[in-house]
Amino acid sequence: MNSERRLTSAAIRTRKGERFPVMTAYDAPFARCAEDAGIDVLLVGDSLGMVVLGYSSTAPVELVDMVRHTGAVVRGTRRAHVIADLPFATYEASDADAVRASLALVKAGAGSVKLEGGVRSAARIAAIVSAGIPVCAHIGVLPQTAANDAGFRRKSDAEALSGDARAVEAAGAFAVVLEMVDAAVSAGITASLGIPTIGIGSGPDCDAQVLVLHDALGLYADAPPFAKRYAELAASATEALKTYAGEVRAGTFPVRS
Ligand code: KIV
Repeated sequence: MNSERRLTSAAIRTRKGERFPVMTAYDAPFARCAEDAGIDVLLVGDSLGMVVLGYSSTAPVELVDMVRHTGAVVRGTRRAHVIADLPFATYEASDADAVRASLALVKAGAGSVKLEGGVRSAARIAAIVSAGIPVCAHIGVLPQTAANDAGFRRKSDAEALSGDARAVEAAGAFAVVLEMVDAAVSAGITASLGIPTIGIGSGPDCDAQVLVLHDALGLYADAPPFAKRYAELAASATEALKTYAGEVRAGTFPVRS
C-alpha cells in the first residue's frame, strides 16, 4: 500500500458541489477496472454479503470478511480512496467496539470507514473520528436493520432525515450516503450540508452517486430498479463458458501440437 498517493477523505470533503462517481468494489481485479475508469472513490460495501458471498442480506457479513475484501481492493488500486463498511454488530454496542472494528479496517488499508444510522449513530461517529479515523455516514434506508424497520421502502420524512444529516455532519463525518431518500428531500439535504452527499436511489441532486458494482455490470440478478445496468457481464460470462465447455467436449481445445 502507498497511502501517501491515495486520495484523502479531506480531499473528498472539498468536492462538495462537484458531481463525482463512487462505485462499490470487493476484489482486486474489479477495483483496478474502476480505478482505470477514473473512479477514485471506492466503497467496500457490506453488500459484499449478497453480491459476492451469496447471503440474502448484509446481516451475516463478519468483520473478517470486510478485512479480507478491503485488503484485496487496496492491493488492486494505487490512488483510490477506499471506504470500508463496518458490518452489522461490530459498532452498535459501544464506542470501544466501533473504534476497534474501524482500526481493523484501517489496518487492512481502508482510508475511512462507513457505518449506518443518523442521530442514533452520531456518538459512534464522533468516537471513531476522535480516534483519528475518517467516517462516511449512511442515512435513509439502512440495509443492516431494514428488516426491523420499514424494509426497503423509500424514505421521505424530511424533518427526520434532515435531523439525521445534521447530526452526522456535526459528529464529524466527511460525507454521507443517502440511500433511497425521496429526490426532493435529498436535494434539500445536499443544499443544506457542508459535506458531500453520495446518493443511491436518491435522485440526481446529490453531490456524488454510488452504485453496487454487480448491479451496474449486470452480474447480480436481484438489482434494485434504480440501478442502471451499464453491461451484461453475467450473460457474457455464461456465453464464454458455454464456448469453453463446448470446445472441451468437442476436443477442439486444447489444440493438438
Ligand atoms: O453496502 C453497500 O454497498 C452500500 C451501498 C449501497 C451504499 O452501503
